[in-house]
This record gives sequence, C-alpha cells and structure tokens, in this order.
Amino acid sequence: MSNHAMDSNCITLTRHVLAEQKKCPTATGDLTQLLTSLQTAVKVVSCAVRKAGITQLFGTVGETNVQGEEVKKLDVLANELFINMLKSSFTTCVLVSEENDNIIEVETERQGKYIVCFDPLDGSSNIDCLVSIGSIFAIFKKDEDETPSIKHVLQKGDNVVAAGYALYGSATMMVLSTGQGVDGFMLDPSIGEFILTDRDIKIPSRGKIYSINEGYEYSWDEAIKEYVRSKKDPSLGKPYGARYVGSMVADVHRTLKYGGIFMYPATKDAPTGKLRLLYECIPMAYIIEQAGGLASMVASVF
Ligand code: AHG
Ligand code: MN
Ligand code: MN
Ligand code: MN
Repeated sequence: MSNHAMDSNCITLTRHVLAEQKKCPTATGDLTQLLTSLQTAVKVVSCAVRKAGITQLFGTVGETNVQGEEVKKLDVLANELFINMLKSSFTTCVLVSEENDNIIEVETERQGKYIVCFDPLDGSSNIDCLVSIGSIFAIFKKDEDETPSIKHVLQKGDNVVAAGYALYGSATMMVLSTGQGVDGFMLDPSIGEFILTDRDIKIPSRGKIYSINEGYEYSWDEAIKEYVRSKKDPSLGKPYGARYVGSMVADVHRTLKYGGIFMYPATKDAPTGKLRLLYECIPMAYIIEQAGGLASMVASVF
C-alpha cells in the first residue's frame, strides 16, 4: 500500500471468496456467486437500517410470524431482499427463513445446489430504539442429482458449508467462515464494499463478560442458576461483568471479540430455548467453533 489514505490493493469480501474458490480445483464458483448475492442483500439492509427513521421503516406491519412474534417493517424488507437476491443468484434450491411459515422452493429454472437458512433481521425488538441488529445465515448443500426436499434443510450442523452474520452496529460488519477459520469484513460505505479488516479471528480463551437475559432467572433450572451465580461470586475469583444487548448477533459478536459467555437457556415458557436451530444456533455455533471457541445446544431440561 502506498502512503496515501486510499488502499489500492484492498481485500474485499468478493476478492477473498474468489481466492478461496481458486484454492479448490473442483469449485464451480457457485458459492462465490451465492455470497455475492448475500452481500447485496446485506448492503441494502444496512442502508435501510441507517435511514430507517427517515424512510418510515420503523414500527410494525400488524402481523405475527410463525414464531408468534410481531413482524416489523424491517423484518419484511430484509426478508424480501434475502429471498429475491438468493433466488436470482441461480445457486440455491431451498430457502428457510424465520419470517416464512414454510420452506421456500426456488423455481426449477433458477435452481442451484445450495440450501440457505437465514434470520433476515435479528434483534427486531431493538430496531425502534436504534440498538444494534443483524442478519444470520447458514449454507448447506445437496447432491447435484437429488431433487430438493425437506430432508435437505434438516441437516446437522456438521454439514454446514459456510455460515456467518452481518452486524449493523456502530459500523456494519460481515463475519464469515467457509470452514477455514473466521474473517471479518467492515463495510466501507463510501465505496460500498466489505473490506477484510479482521483476519482469522480467534476468540480470547478467557473473557470477563457473561451475557444472558437475567430477568428469566426464576425460570432457569438449578444447574444454570448455579453456573451463573458462580460467575458472580467474588470468593471464586474476580466476578464477571454483565452485558446483554438482546440481539443475538451483537451479543455473539462481542463474545467473539472480547471472550466470555453467551447463553439462552431453556425457560419454562420456552422449554426448548428461544433461539432457533437452523438460522440462529447452528450458524453462530459454527462461527464460534471456527474461531476456537465452544458452543453447545441443549434441547430441553423441563
Ligand atoms: P429475532 O429478532 O430474529 O426474532 O431474534 C431475537 C432473539 C435473539 O436475537 C436474542 O438473543 C433473543 O431473541 C432475545 O430474547 P429475549 O428478549 O427473550 O432475551
Ligand atoms: Mn423474530
Ligand atoms: Mn434472531
Ligand atoms: Mn429475526
């Protein structure tokens, strides 16, 4: 890089993915194309988030989704963007979205081999107060000659081909893993490109922060209560500090950068835990594990 402020050789997300593709002699370029379409969706969501108040994107649409949650205008916009961009990439066959009751099958003419599970807008309850929100995705594959079906979306986390998230925080960042570690790309709004700023992110082996919705303590099982208590007990070491945004992307990203613990344990109201397996737990667990951390899911304790 020369000594003026513009980098004439910056590594964009597209450049990075293309370089990864070239390392694999059998790669067709489909994943690169898919990730390019995802980037477009994320850029538009980021732009919408930044001017939500001005463009009247705050508030609800007056409907509830399959999870029984109130749907926000930004949930709908982000969902449409993800669906439209992914379908038109000619690389996907089945999509799973938090905001759709059923799987979305891509028209035969536009089908490709990938399955994408996504949470188009994570942290909806934080939209109207300007707190960080995000998007999450996990990408799976089916064999070329198979007809797409429900079994292709019900795959285990071990089968993830790539996963990541976008955080619309004080800046917009995309965090991605294709199975060779985790990289972070900051959106430079002046050129509309994601630039590699955080190469090979490793989670610190020890953190000082625990992150959990403590308001539900009455509803946790004994083991969780005891574990959280132990993190705050000065007789066991310096007590951890508490941080909880309430947007999984923000809470997980902070945990990735600073270390610590993020949990959403089962409660009496949500005996299988509130976070959803395909587009919240699996992709985030994949990122944390790819960064050298640990993640686990417990189905039910009640
Ligand atoms: P979403 O906005 O996509 O529905 O996800 C919200 C999730 C997740 O982001 C967060 O960790 C969790 O809900 C917070 O739930 P509580 O408000 O119950 O703590
Ligand atoms: Mn929701
Ligand atoms: Mn979510
Ligand atoms: Mn969501």
